[in-house]
Amino acid sequence: MSASQTTLRSRPGSAIDAERIRADFPILKLRPGGKPLVYLDNAASSQMPQQVIDRLVLYQRTQHANIHRAVHTLSEIATAEYEQARRKLARFINAREEREVIFTSGTTEAINLAMHGYGRKFIGAGDEIILTTLEHHSNIVPWQMLAEEKGARIRVVPINDAGELLIDDYEKLFNEHTKLVGVAHVSNALGTVNPVKRIIAFARARGVPVLVDGAQAAPHMQVDVQDLDCDFYAFSGHKLCGPTGIGILYAKAALLERMQPFKGGGDMILSVTFEKTTYNVIPQKFEAGTPPIAAAIGLGAAVDYLSGIGMDAIAAHEHDLLDYATEQVKRMPGVRIIGTAADKAAVLSFALAGVHPHDVGTLLNQDGVAVRTGHHCAQPVMQRFKLPATSRASFAFYNTMAEVDALVAGIRKVQKVFC
Ligand code: ALA
Repeated sequence: MSASQTTLRSRPGSAIDAERIRADFPILKLRPGGKPLVYLDNAASSQMPQQVIDRLVLYQRTQHANIHRAVHTLSEIATAEYEQARRKLARFINAREEREVIFTSGTTEAINLAMHGYGRKFIGAGDEIILTTLEHHSNIVPWQMLAEEKGARIRVVPINDAGELLIDDYEKLFNEHTKLVGVAHVSNALGTVNPVKRIIAFARARGVPVLVDGAQAAPHMQVDVQDLDCDFYAFSGHKLCGPTGIGILYAKAALLERMQPFKGGGDMILSVTFEKTTYNVIPQKFEAGTPPIAAAIGLGAAVDYLSGIGMDAIAAHEHDLLDYATEQVKRMPGVRIIGTAADKAAVLSFALAGVHPHDVGTLLNQDGVAVRTGHHCAQPVMQRFKLPATSRASFAFYNTMAEVDALVAGIRKVQKVFC
C-alpha cells in the first residue's frame, strides 16, 4: 500500500474522493465514440487500477515460475508470493486460517467445487437443498445437476414484489431432509442485500451448512466470514478490481478436510501409485494442476488496494450513488425500478415502458454509458417479475454523481427516441 493510496481514505463510513481515485484507473480515461466513458457495468466486471496492473507486470517480469515444485530461486519466490496472496485473501474476509481459502477460477468454479467436493459426497436421494429465487444461475445449475444425479430435491425461497426474500417461507422449508442452503449475499439482478447472518443462524441451529455466493457482496462491503459463521463463501477477483480467471472458495477447515477432491492432478496428491493415490492436505487438495499464479497475486494486490480505501468507505460512497440514482429514476414517468428492497447494494435495475432493454443499452452506449441489459444470468428473477430482461446500472467506488446524471440524461434521451 503506497502512501498516496492511504490519502484516498476519507472519514470512515463516509463518502470517498472518487475523482481522486479515478486517476488510478487508466481505462476510465477512455472516450468511446468521443464521449467520456461512464462505466456502470461493475456487477459484470469492475476495472483494474494501475497498482494491480503494475503488480501483474512485476510478477511476469521478475518473479514467474511454477509453484510448489522446485527449489530454484524463482520457484521459491513465486511460491511465496502466491501463498502471500492467499494470506491477504484470508485477512480480507477474516478467515480463521489461510488454508481455508481455495483459489478457484471464479465464483462459478468455487460453487462447482462445493457441489462436487461436498454435495456429491454428503447429499443423496431424498435430500433437499434450499436455494432462493434471487440466485445467479451459477448457484442454481450446479445444485440442479447434483439433484438430478442423486435424486435430491431443490426447494426455493420466494421473494416479494420488492425483491426481498420471504424469510418466514425460508424457515418453513426446513425439514429433516434439508442438507444444504445456498444463498446470494447480494442479488446481481436486483441489488437486494439478503439477511445472510439470520439465514445462516437458522440453518446452523439445525446443523445445515450454508453456502453464500458473495460475488456481488465482496466488492461492496466488509465481509467477515467468522462473524457470518457461513460454511462456504465464494467470490470472483474480476469484480473487485482484480484479474479474470481467479476467485476463491472459503470454507471452514473442518469441512474442507471432510470433502472429496474436485479435480485430480498434480499438486493435489501426496503419493500416487496405480493402486492408490493419497491426497495432499488442504488447501492443496483442491488446487490440482498449475494454478493461475499471476492472477492470484494480482487479486492479492487488488484486496490491498480496496483495503487501503476501506470497505466501509466504499460501501458508504456506493450507497450515496445508489440513493441519488434511485431518487431521480423513480420520479421519471415510464420508468419502473425492478428491485426496491429496503437494503440494497450498488445495483439499479429498471424497465422502460415500451422500450426493449437491448435498445436502452444500445442508445446509452452511444452516449458512452455502459450498462448491462438482459436476464443477468438470473432468469428466475426475471420470471418472478414477468420480464424478459432489464437494464442494469451497477456502481463501483470510482463512480461519481456526475456519472449518475449522465445515466439519467441518457434514459431521458432513450425515452425521447422511443416514446
Ligand atoms: N454475474 C455477472 C453479472 O451479474 C456477470 O453481470
